[in-house]
Amino acid sequence: MKSIVILISGRGSNMEAIVRACAAEEWPARIAAVISNRPDAAGLEFAAQHGIATAVVDHKVFSGERRREEFDAALRGVIDGFAPDLVVLAGFMRILTPAFTAHYVGRMLNIHPSLLPAFTGLHTHARALEMGCKFVGATVHFVTAELDHGAIVAQAVAPVLADDDEASVSARVLKLEHQMYPAAVRWFVGGRLAQEGGRVRQLDGVSQSFS
Ligand code: GAR
Repeated sequence: MKSIVILISGRGSNMEAIVRACAAEEWPARIAAVISNRPDAAGLEFAAQHGIATAVVDHKVFSGERRREEFDAALRGVIDGFAPDLVVLAGFMRILTPAFTAHYVGRMLNIHPSLLPAFTGLHTHARALEMGCKFVGATVHFVTAELDHGAIVAQAVAPVLADDDEASVSARVLKLEHQMYPAAVRWFVGGRLAQEGGRVRQLDGVSQSFS
């Protein structure tokens, strides 16, 4: 039985999709904990209601020059208390230090709301619309020290329609995220997905498109 820790910062709808799929599909895994950097993250309540351990490591408590290192060290301590096989970033909005990402290399996934390598960082859908993109999407990738740059595991694509704005595009992509992220996590816990030399190694049954 694999152990998964999910990190959130807010709503937690991707976390919710993963928790529901893990239970419904009887994965060989359990969600050991949901951890937030914000005490008011809405997703914490859903996790607690589903009998999942929750914890908060409030980034605002850390100040000064080494605040990122100190926050990451505290977070790492809490995560490792649950001895996870996989750490899942689900709307976790903190930039992570290289020491932190190195510690979880090959066992930390992120979902980013763009078709990477385009539009790393924030406000991805607004920037895609501004550029006149005809397609938007989301990417699941292994986490490395460079923000939004790890090996790509899966992508979901949605069209941009005539009347779209940031909210409508974001809602369309989020629906796909809720299909894609549980599938990718399921692949990992089923031993069908691994990171090998900066690339993703995918075994049978992994290829699937989300659109
Ligand atoms: C999701 O759209 C996710 O792709 C994005 O934040 C949202 C979180 O929603 N992640 C990032 O922007 C990471 N850079 P959720 O809390 O409802 O899952």
